[in-house]
Amino acid sequence: MRLRTALLSVVLAATGSIAIAQSAPVAQTPPMGWNSWNFFAERVTDKDIRAAADQLVATGMKDAGYIYVNIDDTWEAERDATGKLHTNSKFPDMKALADYVHSKGLKIGIYSGPGNKTCGGYAASLGHEQQDADMYAEWGFDYLKYDLCSFIPDVMEKQAPNDKAAQMKLMIAAYEKMGKALQSATAKTGRPILFSLCQYGWDSPWEWAPELGGNAWRTTGDVEARWQSIYDIASQQAGLASYAGPGHWNDPDMLEVGNGKLSLAENRTHFSWWAMLAAPLLAGNDLPNMKPEIKAILTNKDVVALDQDPLGKQATRAYADGEVEVWTRPLQGGAMAVAVINVGSDRNSTHPFHLDLKKLSFVDNQTGKDLWTGKPIELTDKMPIELPSHDILLVRIDQPKRRIPQVRVIHMGEVPKQDAPK
Ligand code: GLA
Repeated sequence: MRLRTALLSVVLAATGSIAIAQSAPVAQTPPMGWNSWNFFAERVTDKDIRAAADQLVATGMKDAGYIYVNIDDTWEAERDATGKLHTNSKFPDMKALADYVHSKGLKIGIYSGPGNKTCGGYAASLGHEQQDADMYAEWGFDYLKYDLCSFIPDVMEKQAPNDKAAQMKLMIAAYEKMGKALQSATAKTGRPILFSLCQYGWDSPWEWAPELGGNAWRTTGDVEARWQSIYDIASQQAGLASYAGPGHWNDPDMLEVGNGKLSLAENRTHFSWWAMLAAPLLAGNDLPNMKPEIKAILTNKDVVALDQDPLGKQATRAYADGEVEVWTRPLQGGAMAVAVINVGSDRNSTHPFHLDLKKLSFVDNQTGKDLWTGKPIELTDKMPIELPSHDILLVRIDQPKRRIPQVRVIHMGEVPKQDAPK
């Protein structure tokens, strides 16, 4: 049973009355929002978070679905004698900040880790899991990113030196502990907290994270704002499709759209690929200075709808031909998305690439919508597709003509014909 959707009782201590609340299921589609790390890193302040919230509203990103405003690492100061963790001077009043973000109709996220220290060397939650979870809930937080980092030397390597299997068990137990702490905090306040595991894909988190309340888990190391990083991470998602679904998602890390020196094609492909993968869409760019062409990418309604498709099935790689990859994603109502990506760095894709409809289980030509031009497109067998380096053709086909695999029902006791004794 998914623990996070269970009935939760809420004790309203202030009034002495008792009410029963059902925690709303979170992350039924991949979480969307913005996170401070990819652009601001350790420089982020309260002011930047408020500005990001303002910009999500002003740019139309909120209307497009970007709801979470997530503070990453470097908000923490030290613990006092009671164990309470204080904020540093960059974040003078977390409750007021959460209230501000909520007043915009948005949600707010925070960051910690299971070790003594976060990746940035700030105080993390080891030994204070419940106390911290309760504090996030009191402040009004809706999302926790929980980052492994110093738990590796602090606990895993110390308690189980040279025993990788035992180290992984310790890691899983630490995530389970915080998962339970969040559930207990939610039971007190009624506010669900999305639980995002950040442990770089170690020990196949997709196999165990959903059971301990994980709504998303990183599948790889940190993304960087350069093509090779984006390509490597996307490639590592092949084979993970069966693990994602409503409430629990593979997380190939936050978006770098609009960051670094990514070309427009690379930004478009990065965003499209993450949408094909049903990935969390957490923008990580400088929102107050966002260029119109970057805003156009992040708010492309068709591509966002692809990411947020309610069926929740992520794309698989259908085939690769030289430097061109073709990925497909099944969508609600029998629709399909097809992405043709030129992953090569130095040439156009046309020659010798010709789309092979049979490899996509398509019969006949397909009529769809090109999600970047917004125009109808006909996919025909062996059609050459012209794509500049690192660019993408992204097509949604609402009524694909497909070869349906024949399934024969075999009744109990019946010997299938081909196996019958001669
Ligand atoms: C790790 C995470 C990043 C970011 C930093 C913060 O590297 O993977 O996403 O949270 O820590 O220190």
